[in-house]
Amino acid sequence: MQVIVTKSYDESCQVVAQMFCELIRQKPDCKLGLATGGTPVPMYKKLIEANKAGEVDFSRVRTVNLDEYCGIPATHPQSYRYFMDENLFDHVNIDKANTYVANGLGDAAANAAALEQKVREGGAADLQLLGIGNNGHIAFNEAGDALVAEAHIEQLTESTINANARFFASREEVPTSAITMGMADILAAKKIVLMANGPAKADAIRGLIGDGRITTQNPSTLLKLHPDVVVVIEEELAKAAGWQG
Ligand code: PGA
Repeated sequence: MQVIVTKSYDESCQVVAQMFCELIRQKPDCKLGLATGGTPVPMYKKLIEANKAGEVDFSRVRTVNLDEYCGIPATHPQSYRYFMDENLFDHVNIDKANTYVANGLGDAAANAAALEQKVREGGAADLQLLGIGNNGHIAFNEAGDALVAEAHIEQLTESTINANARFFASREEVPTSAITMGMADILAAKKIVLMANGPAKADAIRGLIGDGRITTQNPSTLLKLHPDVVVVIEEELAKAAGWQG
């Protein structure tokens, strides 16, 4: 695992955006695994700027998103389809037919099977973007006694519902379940880049980069099984997580 410690969150976003731009230039029809949440928003802004400046062309890029809330339609401003359109897809020259965000409404088993198929279609993702939950979750694979390999429906933990309440008018409006890629789906990507910032992530990041232990109580630690993972954090978080370098 490679850990990149930057001077600031903005620099972290620059580093990650650069990784995406380089990949897209090398492989214009690459398959990207994308993530939502607060963390990647400024990084997506940098991709939009690069696209507008003619530095990167999304016209042949394919994307699959990690997860989607259950129980809200794609038109809901907090749905992850809406998020991706608003924060990236509507502002770059991507063909939306080549973008996939799971359906959170209707037959859960069929939706999970459809997500699983998209993960496999055309081979593994060339680059998978991840954030990390305060409890170490990646996508919506929540900390607990067991994890699930394939795409599935996950009940959200109190920690996650509390963390995501900031995006909703009230805590009661936060969906309590989500459809998510499973751990094997994430680990199947050829390369993984995880971004985190802010002190709330310190415990989760300590578990990820502090030692060699793997535990389902911090799902991000399973990334230690993958040969090509890059973790990008700013120095304040690195310090809070006890990173010695
Ligand atoms: P955040 O979420 O980027 O909004 O902190 C990350 C996550 O829960 O994976």
